[in-house]
Amino acid sequence: MNRPARIAASILSADFARLGDEVTQVVAAGADLVHLDVMDNHYVPNLTIGPMVCEAIARVTQAPLDVHLMVKPVDDLALAFARAGASLISFHPEASQHVDRTIRLIRDAGCRPGLVLNPATPLACLDHVLPLLDLVLVMSVNPGFGGQAFIPYTLDKVAAVRARIDKLGREIWLEVDGGVKPSNIAAVAAAGADTFVVGSALFGAPDYPQRVAELRGALAAGKA
Ligand code: DX5
Ligand code: ZN
Repeated sequence: MNRPARIAASILSADFARLGDEVTQVVAAGADLVHLDVMDNHYVPNLTIGPMVCEAIARVTQAPLDVHLMVKPVDDLALAFARAGASLISFHPEASQHVDRTIRLIRDAGCRPGLVLNPATPLACLDHVLPLLDLVLVMSVNPGFGGQAFIPYTLDKVAAVRARIDKLGREIWLEVDGGVKPSNIAAVAAAGADTFVVGSALFGAPDYPQRVAELRGALAAGKA
């Protein structure tokens, strides 16, 4: 199986006092996307960044900005992040009153829409809207914090989403978020993911290029 493998660097674990440099460095190290975790202390018990920070990051990198909204309600902030330079915008179905409307609003704003499944969110939420999406993001931790342990049963969910995407036969990225590191990234890829969010395992490393190489090495070894 020769699927692409994209690494999305989650800046949640970056040094926020030097955010621009951190972004430049992980992209230079080989990260494909910059993953922005947007938390509102309402949908999740943590508070992070808004569109102003997204706009500032967009000025320092050409890498696509992968905005993960953990906010409720979704629509106004989705539009604000679209204006702030996001490429992909994903949201949690539990946080939107009208999931179809939110997906269309993101696409109409010029971004690629994604839906995020928490560990306990049933796959049924994809039933009618999968053809409208460019991305499905499977959470392998409960949203709200970086540095949590990967929940193993989410691998079965990744495989089930992969089967649905393949059956549909349309290009939809399958991203996994939470606790991904060199020791488990190959298993996540084997389950069917093509896009890997890495936060603490990347920004916590002393040498970013070396850590990206380790992640890619583990992916390559898993394919062999
Ligand atoms: C959790 C966030 C993740 C997380 C990833 O709510 O969506 O992006 O920060 O960080 P690690 O890789 O440390 O689990
Ligand atoms: Zn995230």
